[in-house]
Amino acid sequence: MTFKKVEAIVLTEDDIRSLVSFPEALSIAEELLANQGSGAVDMPPKVALDLKRFGLESYCNSMPAYLHYKKLLGIKFGGGFSDNVRTGQLPYMVQTLILANPVTGEPYALMSATYLTILKTGTETAVSAKFLAKQDGALKVCVIGVGDQGQGNALAWAALDAQGARKVSEIGLVDLDTGKAEQFAKVLERSYKGKIQVSGSIEKSVADRDVIVTTTTAVKPIVKKEWVKPQGVYFASLGSNPELDPQIVLSADKLVADNWVQNEHRGEFRELIATGKITRRNLYAELPEIVAGKQPGRVDPKENIVGSLIGLGSIDIATAWQAYLAAKERGIGQKVRLM
Ligand SMILES: NC(=O)c1ccc[n+]([C@@H]2O[C@H](COP(=O)([O-])OP(=O)(O)OC[C@H]3O[C@@H](n4cnc5c(N)ncnc54)[C@H](O)[C@@H]3O)[C@@H](O)[C@H]2O)c1
Repeated sequence: MTFKKVEAIVLTEDDIRSLVSFPEALSIAEELLANQGSGAVDMPPKVALDLKRFGLESYCNSMPAYLHYKKLLGIKFGGGFSDNVRTGQLPYMVQTLILANPVTGEPYALMSATYLTILKTGTETAVSAKFLAKQDGALKVCVIGVGDQGQGNALAWAALDAQGARKVSEIGLVDLDTGKAEQFAKVLERSYKGKIQVSGSIEKSVADRDVIVTTTTAVKPIVKKEWVKPQGVYFASLGSNPELDPQIVLSADKLVADNWVQNEHRGEFRELIATGKITRRNLYAELPEIVAGKQPGRVDPKENIVGSLIGLGSIDIATAWQAYLAAKERGIGQKVRLM
């Protein structure tokens, strides 16, 4: 039997960077989260492969999702590869993504998803802050870890501020490598007009912050409870390992996860779940439920809220769709016959 020909578009990392902006990605992430919370997205928890057992300092995820509100199927594949940090030849996170027709399975596009991940990690956090950070007045934010994800976060905060969705008066950038943070501060200045402070000291940088974002490759907690404001803080923990003093988590008024099952395996809550210190009953809500309006976010300016956001593949797929549509419109990408 002869079948029809199927062509997919291949989009490179450079293509993606030219196709989707942070402000666009921010709106896409919020729309996706609201739809996911309303049941219009099917996203099984990511399948996580940890390759340490085989002597490799790598982990790899498989992240499929179906976006019913867009009639779109997709999967992201990839993870963190520590060897890349040593060689400097590739970023720590390396990922690819496939978009497909949910009726026929035919692939529309195959694309690099490293920048898509940076967009997703940043915009997921910024959207979460609209609901979970203090609701009155300008936000003072601190981003700890100014690698790829931390930079994406700061750019997403800049987009949130520029859109007028939330006023962000200060962004602190903290990294062990202050030279890298200083270099990035110059990039951030192009899209952010508020105050930027660069520091190598977490203790000095978190003292007066309303939002503390951790996005490092640290393997042990790096933010102590006694360093932060006693009330009214939103902690967004994004790293794969716990980054906050366990007392911050255990004493929080609300614990939010982007997806509870995913958080059993990775991220801020993992060890507290493994040791029985928190269970699903301690979870206030998953982020999509809050964005969909099924649960209120912050209700009291005094609340301390911890969000463990290890990343929803559905946001990557929604953002990738925008890249695909823009690529088709602008004639970007290489067509490849797959079938
Ligand atoms: N939540 C998500 O959606 C998501 C997505 C991708 C990656 N991640 C995770 O986020 C983390 C960062 O990933 P990345 O791609 O930005 O890596 P990266 O290597 O690009 O950046 C990590 C940064 O953390 C800094 N750092 C490490 N230890 C530190 C410490 N003790 N204090 C201050 N800074 C420190 C490093 O100097 C580096 O700049 C990883 O744990 C990764 O697995 C999360």
